[in-house]
Amino acid sequence: MIAPELDAETLLAQAAALVDGERDWVANAANLSALVGTQIAGLNWSGVYVLQGDVLVLGPFFGKPACVRIALGRGVCGTAAQQRTTIVVPDVHAFPGHIACDPASQSEIVVPLLAGARLIGVLDIDSPQLARFGAVERAFFESLAELLVRSSDWPDRTRS
Ligand code: SME
Repeated sequence: MIAPELDAETLLAQAAALVDGERDWVANAANLSALVGTQIAGLNWSGVYVLQGDVLVLGPFFGKPACVRIALGRGVCGTAAQQRTTIVVPDVHAFPGHIACDPASQSEIVVPLLAGARLIGVLDIDSPQLARFGAVERAFFESLAELLVRSSDWPDRTRS
């Protein structure tokens, strides 16, 4: 279940409407993070990290202050970025190297932001519930990540 009163299709349509006509990546990442954080139940953090050199740097988010820099290969975010694949973690305490920004977080999903072969960063969503993210959520957040990537112009930050 995405949210008690919203299906994934409706929420994706709202997301598309929010970014329609806007190419600024900060504005779009901020609005989509806020949409997720306010419209989907059972989450405590949603946001993006953007690659600078070989380090993920905190971007727009909804939630408590978070870790600013995560090296590629570190934590759930750095692992998903390095492997260029979505990682769903039902219990963060069982993920070796998980970076605990907020001790309330129990489960997490990280989706890489990919523009073709170019790695832009990751979309990171945390929940205070164990196993909050299933197949429906995975498909939704992967679609949201694709929408964010294709709707925005991204800075070239190949140097950290
Ligand atoms: N838990 C993440 C760090 C980012 S915060 O959850 C916002 C990780 O292990 O990479």
